[in-house]
Amino acid sequence: MPTENPFQDPLRFERRVPECTVVIFGANGDLTKRKLLPALYRLMYERRLSPGFAVVGISRTAMSDDQFRDKMRDPVSRYLEDSPFDEDVWKGFAQGLFYMSGDVADPAAYAALAARLREIEQTRKTGGNVLFYLSTQPSQYAIAAAGLGAAGIANGQGWRRLVVEKPFGSDLGSARALSHKLQEVFAESDVYRIDHYLGKETVQNILAFRFGNGIFEPLWNRRYVNHVQITAAESIGVEGRGAYYQESGALRDMIQNHLLQVMATIAMEPSATFEPGAVRDERAKLLRSIRVMKSGEVRENAVAGQYGPARIGGAEVPGFRQEAGVAPDARIDTYAAVTFFVDNWRWAGVPFYIRTGKRLPKRVSEIAIQFNDAPHSVFGGNGDGTTPNLLILRIQPEEGISLKFLSKQPGAGMNLRPVSMDFNYGSSFGERSPSAYETLLLDAIQGDATLYTRQDMVEASWQAVEPILHVWRNQQPDFPNYAAGTWGPPASDQMLARRGHAWRRI
Ligand code: BG6
Repeated sequence: MPTENPFQDPLRFERRVPECTVVIFGANGDLTKRKLLPALYRLMYERRLSPGFAVVGISRTAMSDDQFRDKMRDPVSRYLEDSPFDEDVWKGFAQGLFYMSGDVADPAAYAALAARLREIEQTRKTGGNVLFYLSTQPSQYAIAAAGLGAAGIANGQGWRRLVVEKPFGSDLGSARALSHKLQEVFAESDVYRIDHYLGKETVQNILAFRFGNGIFEPLWNRRYVNHVQITAAESIGVEGRGAYYQESGALRDMIQNHLLQVMATIAMEPSATFEPGAVRDERAKLLRSIRVMKSGEVRENAVAGQYGPARIGGAEVPGFRQEAGVAPDARIDTYAAVTFFVDNWRWAGVPFYIRTGKRLPKRVSEIAIQFNDAPHSVFGGNGDGTTPNLLILRIQPEEGISLKFLSKQPGAGMNLRPVSMDFNYGSSFGERSPSAYETLLLDAIQGDATLYTRQDMVEASWQAVEPILHVWRNQQPDFPNYAAGTWGPPASDQMLARRGHAWRRI
């Protein structure tokens, strides 16, 4: 039952966490040590997990339970994002860590997993609840689901759920095919497609900001909003993920999933309740309203970039084509900027500019909402007439919200200057925010899919980017077209300039 205040749903906030086993496929991979286990450890530290909680890691490398525990100790303590590592908590946590080597394509691995799960259920009293987490190569997702189905462990005495890491498909067709395969084994309501951006506190706060306050919503439409800029800049390169990245590219890696979800959160209609179905329906509706470009419109509305080598702060930085695992003539984008439009009454004609890239000058993710200028300037030339009102939602780092407006400069005359009203998470709350993976893992264990994407959303966002992918496959600019450490190719600035806009200098 929804409560009167949609943001105080007891199920979501009391966090009564059922006992369960989390089975991680791809346990020897990067995600497990950098994100999943640190998040689970932290949840244990905060006593959010039940005492009988267990993890079974599976991958091909041969290791004993103890070797796995030893191997994970160091990365867990290293990647704990500003929280302390407690030796006693680790000991308790490690007792619930188990490992099995096995090949995803080998039926024997699932028979062994079934036996292991039965044993763990007895010793740790997990009630037969299992959360399967697919974090292998994406080409193995369907194989793993089929293996679980054939071994009879996709169903059981407790609940069984499947979390699927991104990327969910590499285009619309493959995303649909994957979904069908998963649904042969799991009910759609038990499939949790993860998009870690939706788990970020600052992205969740967009909903609180928009729908918990009365003052912004009247302005939140085409009458007052001039355009929206969404930026997710990274200063790092491809960090040893060259082989994956040269197949994926920035548009697929960041825009199709994370940034379109952020855009949907900014632009969606208010949902009547905070029920999982209701919020996801509104997000999905918005994603379906994104105008799908015709191929002739792609050139005007989408810009691809790839970084070349540069010297930054006295150090030589390699170009993308010089990174490990990347072909010397790789033709994929490491930068992408796109202009989207939403075809509905609220947003008709308002451009949503999205940009993302590797090796940009800094790591920063934000949404800037630019409002229309005052209709008439009573201050004539005395003000800074070029500074628009801006609302900036800062996703990371320095999480917070700023409102920029003009103010009278002290002294004689009527000179205006832009100033800022700021809210900072750190100083306002003074407590650590949970990482996106902590939030999302806990949600999946509790059966709350609000912050997970759904197949219709995944398909709508593939639909929105597919025309661009098609055009880029055949026509690419001369790569590299921006130097590492700069804000992307000039064509990206030109894309905005054609509509009289400019990227915000961050
Ligand atoms: C991942 C992408 O999904 O998100 C990475 O595959 C990217 O390429 C990362 O670096 C960014 O996440 P965050 O949380 O650091 O902004």
